[in-house]
This record gives sequence, C-alpha cells and structure tokens, in this order.
Amino acid sequence: MESLVSILYMIAVFAFAYGIRMMRSPKTAKQGNVISLIGMLLGLLGSLIQPLPLGDNNYLWIVMSMFIGSAIGLPLAQKVKMTAMPQLVAMFNGLGGASATVIGIVELLNINAQTPFSSKFISVLALLIGAISFTGSILAYLKLEGKLRKQWVVPGHNALNLLLLVIMFGLGILIATGTNGIGWPLWVMLALSLFYGVFFVFPIGGADMPVVISLLNSLTGLSAAAAGGIYGNKAMLIGGILVGASGTILTLMMCQAMNRSLWNVILAGKFTAGSGASSNGTDQVMKEITKPDAAILMQYSKNVLVIPGYGLAVSQAQKIVKEMDDLLGGVDVSVKYAIHPVAGRMPGHMNVLLAEADVPYEKLLDLDDANAALKNTDVVLIIGANDVVNPSANDDPGSPIYGMPILNALDAKHVIVMKRGRGAGYSGIENPLFYHDKTKLYFGDAKASLNEIIAELKENL
Ligand code: TAP
Repeated sequence: MESLVSILYMIAVFAFAYGIRMMRSPKTAKQGNVISLIGMLLGLLGSLIQPLPLGDNNYLWIVMSMFIGSAIGLPLAQKVKMTAMPQLVAMFNGLGGASATVIGIVELLNINAQTPFSSKFISVLALLIGAISFTGSILAYLKLEGKLRKQWVVPGHNALNLLLLVIMFGLGILIATGTNGIGWPLWVMLALSLFYGVFFVFPIGGADMPVVISLLNSLTGLSAAAAGGIYGNKAMLIGGILVGASGTILTLMMCQAMNRSLWNVILAGKFTAGSGASSNGTDQVMKEITKPDAAILMQYSKNVLVIPGYGLAVSQAQKIVKEMDDLLGGVDVSVKYAIHPVAGRMPGHMNVLLAEADVPYEKLLDLDDANAALKNTDVVLIIGANDVVNPSANDDPGSPIYGMPILNALDAKHVIVMKRGRGAGYSGIENPLFYHDKTKLYFGDAKASLNEIIAELKENL
C-alpha cells in the first residue's frame, strides 16, 4: 500500500508542477488547470488510502467535511465575477490558513515527552503562519470588497511589528522545547498570531491588496507545507512549497512592475490609493475630440493600438471594444492591444477581460512588443488607463512612479484617451500625457463612449 501511495503522490506532484508550467500561457492555462486538478484528486486519493492515525471513524469525518466544503465552495466559485477573483482567492487563502492552524493546534495538544523537537517546531510553524494568513486574508477580503476602507497605522508600527514577531517566535521555541504544549504559551501564541494578521494588513491601502494577497498566498503555501511535514505527506509538502514559491515570485513580479519594493507596499509607504497630487483642479487644458473625428481618425488609419486600463474593467466595456475591433477589421484596420503587467487591479486583469470578450490571444502585445509597435502606430486608443501610460515614470525623477516601466503612448502618431473626467489613476498623481499636443480626450464612461464610436462607424462604413 505504501508504494502505491508514494506513486500517487509522485504523479500528483508532477501534475502540479506541469500544470503550473502550462498556466504561463493563456492558450494552455485551461489544460494546466485540469492537469493540476487531476494531480489534486490523485493526492487526495493517496491521503485517503494511506493508513490513518485517528481510527476508523475518519472516513465519515473526511466525507462530511468534503461535502460541506464543496457545498460552500462550488456555488461561490461558479457565481464569482472575474473582477472579484482576488476576493475569492483571499477567502480560499484564509480558509487554507485556518486549516493549517487547526492542524497545528491538534498536533500540539497531542505532544508528549517522546515527540521530537522537529515535529513540534513544524506544528508551531503551521499554527503561526496559518493564523497570520487566516486573519490577514479575511481583512484583505473586506478591504477589496470595499467593506473596510480604513487604513490604520499606530505610532511605532514597525517596531511593534518586530516586537510581536520576536514574542511569537520566542513562544514557539518555548513550546517546541517543552514537553507539553497545552498551556498558556500555546494560546498566547495563537492569539498573537491571529492579531498579527490584522496588524500587518490593516495599514495597507485597498488597492495594494492584490500584492498582499499574493504574499499571504505564499504564506498559506508554507503553512500547508508545514502541515504536510507534520503528517509526512509528500504531496502536501511539495504542493505547499510550490504555492509558497510561486506566490513569492508573483508578489515580487507585481512589485517590480510597479517599481516599488515589497517593503514599500507592506509599510504602506511611497504611494497608496488616492495619495499624491490629484489632477483635479489643475488649470492645464485637455483638448477634446468629437465623436465623428474620433471614428474617422480610426477608420482611416492603418493600425490602432488599444491600451486598456482599470477604467475598462470598471465600465465592463470589453465586449464593446471587441465589437469596435471587428468593425475596424472589416475595413482593413489592424487592431491590437497593449497589455501592461499591472494595468487594472489584479495580475492578468486585462488578459482575463479581453479573453472574456473572445479577443484572440495573438492580438495582445506585452509591454516590450507594444512599445516597439507603438513607433509604427497611427492611433493609440487609451481606454480607462492612466498610471501605465504616465510619461512622468520616464522623465520626472520626483514622481512617485519614476522608474516604473510604462507604455510609451506618445510614440504613436495620434493619442485618444477615453476617461470620464479629470480623475486621477491609482497613484493619485497628475498625468502630463493628457495635456500633450498629440493627445485628444474623449470624455465619458468607456462603455458609452465606445458605443458612440461604434454608432459613428456603422454610419460611415
Ligand atoms: P489607473 O491608473 O488606476 O487609472 C484608471 C483611470 O480610469 C482613471 O484615471 C479614471 O479616470 C479612469 N476610469 C475609471 N472609471 C472609468 C470608466 N467607467 N470609464 C472610463 N474611464 C474610467 O489604471 P491603470 O492605468 O490600469 O493602472 C493600474 C494602477 O493600479 C497602477 O498604478 C498599478 O500599479 C496599480 N495596481 C495594479 C495592480 C495589478 S496587479 N494590476 C495591483 C495593485 C495596484 P476618470 O475617473 O477620469 O474616469
């Protein structure tokens, strides 16, 4: 039986790794998901046929919890809107952390004089990291849902942060070196870890939450790996490490694409949503373009490059863009899309929206390819994007986004920007692009504006 379990775990781990690899491209992502799912089923099967430590009743408990979990999780996952994915991930994350915490508690309650230090230490880690991840994820969920808008920083936040970590770690060592985990150190450590999750996430701005969720995701992975270590379950151990590693890589990539350090995000520093100088109230003039002019400019171009941003997601205009794309395609105008890695509010936000509208993947250009293409582009149409096209990132060393790679929209011959008014982007700063000679503003909600352009195109074509 043991060798069958090992084989199942080995195939499961291979499926996880291969599935993740396939998720690198939208073309193979769905298959990657299915392969990882098969890996998870094999891992589950291996765990079920493995000799169980707590006696015969386990199967009833396992089936009951699987049933309750599926009854809650399945409708939630089916109902969730693509734009609310980070919230769903936060909730799943939190529950993963909660499971690791419970495993840690149960194991520490059962230790005796024979339990080795390493087992106790792993249980401490599962409890500690799991509890931080649990409360941190719940708070992240509330912030992303807009149910909690406060940011709260106590004086000496960083010193307190460090002090809490030292106390929690000290208690962990006390528990792991002692012979009995039941007692005040266990419960104090649990309470402090739960509090730490809140303390850690509370000061961070709502829009920085995707980065925080990705970080919490990697923490949950590590707590799952620790839980895998407790039971000697290799699939859980390696699966947890994979989640921990990929979560860390994603966190760092997001920070890099925003040109911010992880510390800057965690310590709620350089910029958070709404900070900085807003474009409201400036006396600079934005030049407008009329509906017919915008439609004619595009229909007589060789090529149009669309730069979608957060505003496209807000107005849910993805299907209307595709309709405009089809109309322009009918008169041999080539339409492509420039995708900035942090456009929107979650990784792959624009890819997901455009895929939802059946925009072919070949039409999406990444940052480097888009910047190369912009030099030969007739019209660039910016739809609800702001920070990702802000030239201050290139040429204003005083700007909070200086150094962030951007889409160089001004390299195109004409620039049309669709936005509702003078609202700032996520960083809250002015965007000189909107006042440039080349740039024309088309004011209004993105969906309504695109519908107007489509009506004009239909009349003209
Ligand atoms: P933003 O800089 O946030 O700008 C969005 C623009 O869309 C605003 O200027 C707003 O102007 C306009 N807008 C909003 N609703 C609209 C609507 N219904 N119709 C038309 N326009 C609308 O967006 P971006 O350029 O995509 O940049 C993303 C920002 O989020 C970056 O700073 C990035 O660092 C940050 N961020 C991204 C992520 C990830 S992983 N993607 C995670 C955290 C933070 P009006 O109000 O005038 O319409």
